[in-house]
Amino acid sequence: MSVHIAAQPGDIAEKMIFPGDPIRAKIIAETYLEDAVCYNQVRGMLGYTGTHRGQRISVQGHGMGMPSMSIYAHELFAEYGVKQVIRVGTTGGLQEHVATRDVIMAQGACTDSNMNNRRFHGMSYAPLADFELLLRAYEQASSHDLSIKVGNVLTSDAFYASSEDEWKIFTGHGVLCIEMETAALYTIAAQFGVQALSLLTVSDHLITQERLSAEERQNGFMAMVELALMTLVD
Ligand code: HPA
Repeated sequence: MSVHIAAQPGDIAEKMIFPGDPIRAKIIAETYLEDAVCYNQVRGMLGYTGTHRGQRISVQGHGMGMPSMSIYAHELFAEYGVKQVIRVGTTGGLQEHVATRDVIMAQGACTDSNMNNRRFHGMSYAPLADFELLLRAYEQASSHDLSIKVGNVLTSDAFYASSEDEWKIFTGHGVLCIEMETAALYTIAAQFGVQALSLLTVSDHLITQERLSAEERQNGFMAMVELALMTLVD
């Protein structure tokens, strides 16, 4: 057992789906995994291991924001041997050509956070998706006629920003959308030699102010989980 995860070594699969919401982890396990066993309930951050099309897969909630996600990512990579991870999350659109319900593959992640400034002593690091996972997800999406956009995202520390338009400089530099975890996930994955990718459904839009209902969010989310599973399980 690690500090925040009550699993024994070997309880967690090398391949992982990584949603923010632990209830979504439960729904994913119940919907897509056979013989799913819950290995973690500490702090309600549910984690499950089962099989999908004959391969071992785990699903672990990571909470909101980089500090929470980083705790789980670090322990999963350092202590449980997770090797491939796909975050499945929601995001806010930052471009006119990005619409609600779109799926975004985060090729790279900018950030307004100080976490990587500390880690890299003020020098700039470019957090990137694992190319093999990105390519496989893109090919799966194309062969299933799923509309997908690939590009840069903004990982922010604040859901409720202190100034209304601080994201606009990122819109002006082609960044597709805003969320709260990817820059740290890609950085910690690089530290441990883990392959990582973030798949994001656009649930709201900072330019048009559109916002999906809870039901629409859930439908789009499960389509994206299926894409993540197709990417991890060949
Ligand atoms: N900001 C940050 N994270 C998000 C948003 C947002 O607007 N929408 C979904 N996740």
